[in-house]
Amino acid sequence: MARIIDGRAVAATVQEEVRERVFRLSARGIRPGLALVRVGDDPASVSYVRQKERAAQGLGLRSEVFVLPEGTTERELLSLIHDLNRDPGVHGVLVQLPLPSPLSPERVMEVVDPRKDVDCLHPENLGRLVQGDPYLLPCTPRAVQEVLVRSGYPPAGKHVVVVGRSVLVGRPLSILLSQKGLGGDATVTLCHSATPDLGRFTRDADIVVVAVGRPGTLRADMVREGAVVIDVGVTRIPTPGGFRLVGDADFEALKEKAEAITPVPGGVGPVTVAALLLNTVLACEHQTQGR
Ligand code: GUN
Repeated sequence: MARIIDGRAVAATVQEEVRERVFRLSARGIRPGLALVRVGDDPASVSYVRQKERAAQGLGLRSEVFVLPEGTTERELLSLIHDLNRDPGVHGVLVQLPLPSPLSPERVMEVVDPRKDVDCLHPENLGRLVQGDPYLLPCTPRAVQEVLVRSGYPPAGKHVVVVGRSVLVGRPLSILLSQKGLGGDATVTLCHSATPDLGRFTRDADIVVVAVGRPGTLRADMVREGAVVIDVGVTRIPTPGGFRLVGDADFEALKEKAEAITPVPGGVGPVTVAALLLNTVLACEHQTQGR
């Protein structure tokens, strides 16, 4: 029977660091500010943005949500981002993804002031990350690292198989895990939708991270006895009363075989939110240095 990793407990330790930093900033008369931008009414995005706003307020940050209607033009969205870039009370700007088409996430991300880019999606910040000198760490990849290290499964020397190559999770995570230092030093294999026979790779892994967004992606026959499974996927499955959330891994079967596994919900998700708040506070410290 696997150990079920408690993401909320990991998030609480990250939040503690945020709280201390917020306290030190407040002694200097500074309150970190986070602007959350949502375009359209995708139900998952509505829920995520609300969670981020609540978590920010719970730790004493200033947070404001900007909701733009579906059908907003690129010009209108970029104009809002320019305003937020200029606002000295806003230290972090997050544009919730996915954006409704035809809005281009790449175009939007390159307009966010890199110093306020708490998602680490600006090309400059992605470049720094690849160079090994990151400004901030992307939230979900950082959350995966925190979960591994703080649960006693540091990836150093392990074979980690990452499934999914998204710019939000799989791609940057594969880079972070392979870098030198705590949370890194792993041997990394990056698998994706064009990988034939995924199980051939995941069965060799000490740690499997699934971040695809498709339930059933990782089955019990695809991991070896004693593997650690980190499930980043979140899919809403309709039920008579509403919906329930399921991950990418077959949790019920894997918990009989793995050494440890993160649940959905209550695994990586809460840590991602805590990582966002930490980034906002770090961005605030950076922007207010010497003031
Ligand atoms: N949508 C799902 N995860 C994220 C995230 O980490 N950042 C943004 N901006 N959008 C997301």
